[in-house]
Parts: sequence; C-alpha cells; structure tokens
Amino acid sequence: MSEKKVFIGFGTRFGATEEISHRIAELLENSGITTQVENLRKSKNPPSPQEFDGVIIASGMKISKWTKEPKKYIKKYSEMLKNPNKIFGMFVCSILAVQDYEQAKEDYLQKTLEKYNIPDDKNHIVYDAFGGVMDFSKETNLRLFDKRALQMAAMGMEKDSEGKFQYDPNGKNDFRDWGKITEFATKFKDMLLR
Ligand SMILES: Cc1cc2nc3c(=O)[nH]c(=O)nc-3n(C[C@H](O)[C@H](O)[C@H](O)COP(=O)(O)O)c2cc1C
Repeated sequence: MSEKKVFIGFGTRFGATEEISHRIAELLENSGITTQVENLRKSKNPPSPQEFDGVIIASGMKISKWTKEPKKYIKKYSEMLKNPNKIFGMFVCSILAVQDYEQAKEDYLQKTLEKYNIPDDKNHIVYDAFGGVMDFSKETNLRLFDKRALQMAAMGMEKDSEGKFQYDPNGKNDFRDWGKITEFATKFKDMLLR
C-alpha cells in the first residue's frame, strides 16, 4: 500500500483549533499516514491539494465568522476539493456546537460547501463542528469588544437548567470533546485508506 499524505490547514485566533489540528495529525500519523500541518494565517504559500491524498481545512469561529485564510484556501482549490478521489475534511471549533450542534454544522460547514459550490458528497467529504474554548480568565487579555462578543456567543448556554450558568463566567471553559475529535480523525482515516 502506498503511503498516504494529508494536508491540514487551519486558522485560529486563540489557539484552540491549532491544538485540535495537531491532535488529528497525531492520530493519522499513528495509522502510518504522513501529515503536513500549517497555520494558514502564517504560511505564505500553503501547498496545493494536488500534492495530497486528503486535505483537512479548519477554523475557529468568531462572531459567526471563519478566519479568512482557510476560506480563501477552499475558494482557491474548490475544483480540486470536489474531486471524489480526494478526501476532504472540514471542521470548526465553536461555542454554537455546544449549544446547538446541528445548527453549527449547518451554519458553519454546510453553508461553506454551498458557498463554494462543493456538493456535500459523503463518499469523500467529512465535516464536523467541535465545541471550543471560552476563556474569560484574566490571562487571556481579551479586548473589551471580544469579551462582549464572547459573552453574546455564550448567551444560549444560560437558558437551560433554571437560568444558571453552565460555564464559569470568570474562568476558562474548555468544551473540546476529544472523543468526538478522535471519531472524526478515524472516519477521515477510514475514508482515506479504504
Ligand atoms: C470574541 C469571540 C467571539 C466568538 N464568537 C463566536 C460565534 O459567533 N459563534 C461560535 O460558535 N463561537 C464563537 N466564539 C467561540 C470560539 O469559536 C471559541 O472560543 C473557539 O475555541 C475559538 O477557536 P480558536 O481558538 O481556534 O480561534 C467566539 C469566541 C470569541 C473569543
């Protein structure tokens, strides 16, 4: 069996998506797959999907927006990413995924595919929305505007359980589900190696 190569390109503002990307790379490497992981916000010349058997593009969300660079990558290479011989993975790291998982998948992932006219073909495309990190602790030094935006994003979480906070409004809340992240990596790997 020839060695498979996967490119993982991510955009992050606060680091959560970066850690997930590296974890996924580690899981794929454990199955003998070669990975190349790049922060698309920093890399000047990210590689084309042409050089890889699979590509995973990811972003953290802020005010319902991806980081720019991963979207640019998808736009630039949409024709190649449509290719049924290439496995295309996408994920976002977001708070909406904790509040309303289906909505997060629709708003942040399915709409992205639609925007770039990539058919949602489950034979070679896999995507998921993972919970993110909400850090209200002093260490993050969030700008006041960002803190307000994060508080807004968290509002849906207060509605449940008798109006109580389901998170620490002064601390670091990490909602990343490493089990789900492993499931995603396994599904991607299975599609790649089948
Ligand atoms: C200023 C700010 C705004 C945010 N807005 C949203 C949002 O609109 N929707 C959402 O699902 N998550 C939102 N989040 C949660 C982030 O997606 C979450 O913190 C994620 O872990 C960020 O990923 P990153 O660290 O890779 O940038 C927001 C977070 C911050 C700090």
